Amino acid sequence: MGDPDPTNDRTETERLDEEYVFGTWAYQSEVDPTEVTGGEGVRFTDASGNEYIDFSGQLMCTNLGHSAEAVSEAMAEQAEEGAYFAPGFATEARAQLGEKLAEVTPGDLTKTFFSTSGTEAVEAAIKIARMYTGKDKILSRYRSYHGATYGSISATGDPRRLVAEPGVPGMVKAPDPYDYGSTLDPMESLEYIDEMLMLEGDTVAAVLVEPIIGSNGVIVPPEEYLPRLKEIAHDHGALLICDEVMAGFGRTGEWFGSDVFGVQPDVMAMSKGLSGAYAPLGATTVTPEIAEHFEENMFCHGHTYAGHPVSCAAGLAALRTYEEEGLIERSSEVGEYLGDRLAELEEDHPSVGDTRGVGLFRGIELTRDPDDRVPFGTRDDRMSMGSTVLDEVSAAAMDEGTYVANVINTFIVAPPLTITEGEIDEAVAALDGALEVADDAMDR
Ligand SMILES: Cc1ncc(COP(=O)(O)O)c(C=O)c1O
Repeated sequence: MGDPDPTNDRTETERLDEEYVFGTWAYQSEVDPTEVTGGEGVRFTDASGNEYIDFSGQLMCTNLGHSAEAVSEAMAEQAEEGAYFAPGFATEARAQLGEKLAEVTPGDLTKTFFSTSGTEAVEAAIKIARMYTGKDKILSRYRSYHGATYGSISATGDPRRLVAEPGVPGMVKAPDPYDYGSTLDPMESLEYIDEMLMLEGDTVAAVLVEPIIGSNGVIVPPEEYLPRLKEIAHDHGALLICDEVMAGFGRTGEWFGSDVFGVQPDVMAMSKGLSGAYAPLGATTVTPEIAEHFEENMFCHGHTYAGHPVSCAAGLAALRTYEEEGLIERSSEVGEYLGDRLAELEEDHPSVGDTRGVGLFRGIELTRDPDDRVPFGTRDDRMSMGSTVLDEVSAAAMDEGTYVANVINTFIVAPPLTITEGEIDEAVAALDGALEVADDAMDR
């Protein structure tokens, strides 16, 4: 299927895909996917044989790169031995993965519900918090993405939630610790949450946050933010749920974003790097106290594919690979280098307003006007037709052999944790050229 069609320059796969498959979060008339045929290490290849550095880890999820053989072999073995058994049976990989997660997650987080995506991991976290506390409301923040189903999109703050509104009742939105682009100081925004929780009365089941905000701009809060947020939530009888779907599994140079701040949440939602993107897998892990509650109260949740054996085999092999190859520590070391290289782009390009992040989780935010920090891409653009200047920069980088995703006004740099300094140099060189498009567009 990979042969280019000489009549219109599109491959048969691209043609079929466009005709029969929905593109996600997109006007279908604008969907124009490139056929990809394979990957090796941090690179992937299209049907014409062009190679790209995967500088965003696809959707910030290919943490192990494209050739983690231990993971694909574990999946093949599990598929041969027994591809599927109902969640009511115990399977070795699921049991061992549960144990391993209890070991690597912060503090005494212990018991896990397995699902198949980040959305489902968050959805389960919301239901668990409601069942455990007997309260209804979830407080989340405006600059957040928590998933696509009704519960998780209602908790989401970014504009993708708008089509689902009014959504699930009881979702309260708070401001964010966004130093570069918000009028509120990050720590002031936190005290505002304290005030909100007081005013909501004793009705909030949980505060749900990404410890480091991902697709809404790679926003890292001040060091004291997350510990204080946990204190505030507990003071008001609410749980702290950390959505680690993007920040988890070495992305930040620690196992989890929460670890960067030394915080153990009450509930943690995970996916993406959990299987290194080799299989659809989500996980929601809770404290022993919350687990204990469900001894005598029904755990009223589940899916046919909850704890799918092949996905769990992928997860277990992925966690072993992170450990055996020292990838968490590596992310921290190589991440410093990445941060330095991106800071050079900020110095060299007037359109780069801010670079920020930790480990191999970095954002490059653009501006039309560095003094007033006027963005190129707005939240309204997220839901509009047509490409933004950031899309043009991403396209130019792709022409230079580097794939980098952007959301609203920020490029999200989240490569496989196996990336070398040399590969970072290659990708930064491509971005250096591509950012001239934005420099030239500053007064457009
Ligand atoms: C922080 C966060 N939570 C939840 C999700 C939803 O995960 P999924 O797309 O796997 O359903 C995402 C996806 O990007 C995410 O970044």
